[in-house]
Amino acid sequence: MKDALRQLPWPVTLIGSFHDGRHNLMTASWVSQVSFRPALVMVSVAPERYTHELITASREFVVSILTAEQVGVAQFCGTQSGRSVDKVQALGLQTAPGRAVKVPVLLDCLANIECRVVETHPAGDHTLFIGEVVGGGVVKPGADPLVMRDWEWGQYLRMKDEG
Ligand SMILES: Cc1cc2nc3c(=O)[nH]c(=O)nc-3n(C[C@H](O)[C@H](O)[C@H](O)COP(=O)(O)O)c2cc1C
Repeated sequence: MKDALRQLPWPVTLIGSFHDGRHNLMTASWVSQVSFRPALVMVSVAPERYTHELITASREFVVSILTAEQVGVAQFCGTQSGRSVDKVQALGLQTAPGRAVKVPVLLDCLANIECRVVETHPAGDHTLFIGEVVGGGVVKPGADPLVMRDWEWGQYLRMKDEG
């Protein structure tokens, strides 16, 4: 059962959150679009994460899709907690104000998706925050996203057109 589950490919993103002057970034793979109209995105965040505290307080988040070259960023933001490290400063990441939310967006990633929380659901040992997409933009058009499968970093493979 566990082996089968590990074959499920995961996107690798950063969830940005902001409250009381603190901007935090957390690596997250349990992220998915769940509705077209309205456009809704779900993120699954464990209650012990600092990110959980910030999203619960502000009810906003930004999903930044990482590029295949950003393994180092994903590793750092996925192993350090914003409770003890200012990850944005430590990595020297460039940010810009969000268009529709107070959470800043990243200037080095594939795309930013700005969300406002419309529903919260407990799910086992995580919490699902469902956000309505209220803004966002593509930063690096054509860049390949970072993915993970079986706990290995990987890259999205484009299918060649054989026709
Ligand atoms: C590839 C990868 C994917 C992750 N996906 C999630 C996720 O979807 N949800 C979650 O709660 N934690 C996830 N984590 C763990 C958090 O990123 C990690 O606990 C982080 O240090 C929490 O940061 P924070 O305390 O600043 O919020 C993931 C870690 C890695 C390396």
